[in-house]
Amino acid sequence: MMPILLFPFLLLSAIFAQQGQYLVKPGSFLTPTTNPSWPSPSGLYAFGFYKQGSGYAVGIFLAGLPQKTVVWTANRDKPPVPADSKLNFTSDGRLVLQSAQGAETLIASAPEGGASSASMLNSGNFVINNSANQMVWQSFSFPTDTFLPTQNLSHGQVLYSSVSNTNKSTGIFLVLMQEDGWLAMYPVGTPYTLAYGYGGVGISGQKNDVVLQLEDNGHLYLINGDGNIIVNMTNGYPAKDVYRLTIDFDGILRLYSHDMNQNGDWTVKWINPNDDICKPKGLCGFNRYCVVIDLQVGCNCLPQFEPVNVEDKSSGCQRNFSAESCEKDRYTIEPVPNTVWENNNYSIIISTTQDNCKEACLQDCNCEAALFKDGECTKQRLPLRFGRRVQSDSTVALIKVGKYSTPTIDGSLPKESKKEHYRLDILIVGVSLLAFALVVMAISGIAVYKYRSVDHDLPEEEAILEEWVYQCFESGELGKLVHNEVVDKKQLERMVKVGLWCILDEPSLRPSMKKVLLMLEGTVDIPTPPSPTSFLSTI
Ligand SMILES: *[C@@H]1O[C@H](CO)[C@@H](O)[C@H](O)[C@H]1NC(C)=O
Ligand SMILES: *[C@@H]1O[C@H](CO)[C@@H](O)[C@H](O)[C@H]1NC(C)=O
Ligand SMILES: *[C@@H]1O[C@H](CO)[C@@H](O)[C@H](O)[C@H]1NC(C)=O
Ligand SMILES: *[C@@H]1O[C@H](CO)[C@@H](O)[C@H](O)[C@H]1NC(C)=O
Ligand SMILES: *[C@@H]1O[C@H](CO)[C@@H](O)[C@H](O)[C@H]1NC(C)=O
Ligand SMILES: *[C@@H]1O[C@H](CO)[C@@H](O)[C@H](O)[C@H]1NC(C)=O
Ligand SMILES: *[C@@H]1O[C@H](CO)[C@@H](O)[C@H](O)[C@H]1NC(C)=O
Repeated sequence: MMPILLFPFLLLSAIFAQQGQYLVKPGSFLTPTTNPSWPSPSGLYAFGFYKQGSGYAVGIFLAGLPQKTVVWTANRDKPPVPADSKLNFTSDGRLVLQSAQGAETLIASAPEGGASSASMLNSGNFVINNSANQMVWQSFSFPTDTFLPTQNLSHGQVLYSSVSNTNKSTGIFLVLMQEDGWLAMYPVGTPYTLAYGYGGVGISGQKNDVVLQLEDNGHLYLINGDGNIIVNMTNGYPAKDVYRLTIDFDGILRLYSHDMNQNGDWTVKWINPNDDICKPKGLCGFNRYCVVIDLQVGCNCLPQFEPVNVEDKSSGCQRNFSAESCEKDRYTIEPVPNTVWENNNYSIIISTTQDNCKEACLQDCNCEAALFKDGECTKQRLPLRFGRRVQSDSTVALIKVGKYSTPTIDGSLPKESKKEHYRLDILIVGVSLLAFALVVMAISGIAVYKYRSVDHDLPEEEAILEEWVYQCFESGELGKLVHNEVVDKKQLERMVKVGLWCILDEPSLRPSMKKVLLMLEGTVDIPTPPSPTSFLSTI
């Protein structure tokens, strides 16, 4: 009997206690280490400091989950603050970040009549009320990359992606509730027109009163001013999960759910665009095109281009040859088939052939690339952007490159082959054919020999050759390998490193073929290979 009677009483007293306990009064403050956050009554959300880089940021996060998921960040483009900072809810109703030196950064303020209280609500909304107890500020009105149940996104409102899952600064994509009732996605900094959009939902013929809404059960829809749902993106779910809609750093809009009774991860319930992860325009930056490899985004540089920053895909690629003079003889054209790009042409030739298009670009000093499709040749200047591979699209990007590459190999490769672009990227390097042959002979010769031979029988010369290659590599004298022939040093080093990895005795240490391709392409960094002497001595 006792527990049953006691239970409603405990519940009631808990509710009363909560109302007082969770009301933040002016004069309260937070510090990153000792009193970092104000929780919601349910404990699911919290407002306050969270770890960011080497310091702290202020925001709202799911405190009830083992891995804190940040749903809102104050001043997201400001650098993190040190541990001796303070978040002060002042008596005049401002929420300010104060540094130990006294510098202030305003996060929110109650304009008229000051503030009487602030609270972290169970919905994930942080609100400030004035002395007349009217809500005067709410975090839901200033969304960052995430949209929560009971929040509204009305015309003109935008969610901006973050830089990454861990860095919540403004990224390169946005989703906008448009005046025409469409929820549309664009790269940051482009006009809001069809040519730049890459995803979205809606129906035409709507006014500017359409609002995006998400219910507690995960029902996601667009509703108009008459209260009619015009598009159901999901129909809601029976499970009592937590939901959030986020425009992720890769430009994709995802509805996530999390089962609060399980320590699992977030599950994706709905996704847009849902057919190609390369659709978000500009994912790979300038002069680079997006390809899907094992369901993941891969970024390929144009031939004779190299990544500006290997760590940052969206930094794009730059030309690795000097284009100072305009002699036709110095250049050739490399085709990159089945790729679509922004068409920013300055000149069009119609009813022509791919060969004539090539020739027209070579003849024209201003032409740095051309796009050829269905007999139409459009001349372009660099940088090319929004590139991605579309197997079903016949557009060929014709890239003007320095002549010392190896274009003859192009013709001998089967067209439409998936491996083609890898092969091209590997082979279209600044290495002359001679140098290429020398290195490949030196290294793969050893490799082939070793794979076939019995380890104990490794002839001395081979071992010495191997060691010599490694020594040249170690001392930075790779030129010796190619008799000081003029070659692209970077590419040579890449090949030698890959070669040294491939001839390791221990099979588990050798990279997979796919890895080798990515290494040669420059898509992934190549770690320094171990010295061959370390295993030679054991033979
Ligand atoms: C987050 O990314 C921005 C933009 O790339 C960068 O300036 C900033 O330093 C990064 N912040 C952290 C904490 O890494
Ligand atoms: C909060 O800010 C006010 C006004 O700047 C200041 O007077 C007060 O001392 C601060 N509170 C704390 C705990 O630093
Ligand atoms: C804040 O104001 C809203 C109405 O604007 C009200 O519903 C809510 O109860 C107020 N909060 C507190 C803690 O008084
Ligand atoms: C969202 O819009 C509905 C309908 O207009 C409104 O009742 C509700 O208060 C809004 N929610 C927020 C958090 O502003
Ligand atoms: C959306 O779903 C609701 C029920 O959840 C239904 O009543 C409504 O007719 C649907 N609307 C559309 C346009 O599909
Ligand atoms: C390629 O780039 C590297 C360094 O970025 C440079 O040393 C090399 O000369 C370049 N090759 C050509 C052909 O310009
Ligand atoms: C060529 O460029 C113009 C202006 O930039 C554009 O309107 C046109 O659509 C482009 N041509 C093609 C074939 O895309």
